[in-house]
Amino acid sequence: MNANETLNQSNATSGMILEVKNLKKYYPVPAGFLQKYRKRPEASKAGKYVRAVDEVSFSIGESEIFALVGESGCGKTTTAKMIVGLIRPTSGQIGFLGKDITSLRGRELKNVRRNLQIVFQDPYSALDPRMTVGQVVSEPMISFGFSRQERKARILELLNEVGLRPEHASRYPREFSGGQRQRIGIARALALSPKLIVCDEPVSALDAAWRSLGFSALPWMFRFGRRSSRFS
Ligand SMILES: Nc1ncnc2c1ncn2[C@@H]1O[C@H](COP(=O)(O)OP(=O)(O)OP(=O)(O)O)[C@@H](O)[C@H]1O
Ligand SMILES: [Mg+2]
Repeated sequence: MNANETLNQSNATSGMILEVKNLKKYYPVPAGFLQKYRKRPEASKAGKYVRAVDEVSFSIGESEIFALVGESGCGKTTTAKMIVGLIRPTSGQIGFLGKDITSLRGRELKNVRRNLQIVFQDPYSALDPRMTVGQVVSEPMISFGFSRQERKARILELLNEVGLRPEHASRYPREFSGGQRQRIGIARALALSPKLIVCDEPVSALDAAWRSLGFSALPWMFRFGRRSSRFS
């Protein structure tokens, strides 16, 4: 993927909350079986890489909806994961709320994540099967010191916002459909009222009722809270 494939849906040029510059992620091509067996130098040393993301630059302003569009395997998920700090870029910079967050770790990264959340492409792998929906949704709030009372009220608010019922809070992700699981992931991402939500194909697993509202419903929801969101 290159920078020309990014699609900025807004004309906003000032008040950027996210600025991505020349972002790259190269994965070394693993050595083949025979290479490993013979203990030959790894292919990466010979300069063989998968160029998952190559020189991507874009910026997102306040209240802006930004779509990153491209064919399968072009690097959308990899870009999303780099922005929220789940994987480290090979090179390039990520600025968020005026601060360079490219190589943050630990507490600093945690503080940034309060305002920078992600909804994953695959809701099956993103939800811990041992946690109830209530626990999944309240986990980010626990890390930021919300009281039990505050969490309880917020869980009900969030479930309602994404179209789930209060009694769903005590059930486990396996008891839900793919679309409902996607809603659980959205509720979790909204829990801390972040300034930016990175959505990796957020409607790919939504059920037919929601998909018919599709891309118009989610941006509305996020815009309503004056958040910015990014879709891929
Ligand atoms: N951990 C990894 N190791 C090696 N290559 C990887 C890794 N993760 C992704 N890739 C490769 O990087 C490229 C981009 O992958 P990515 O998942 O970002 O694509 P995508 O645009 O999200 O695709 P899709 O639309 O199918 O979800 C692909 O060629 C993929 O095979
Ligand atoms: Mg993807």
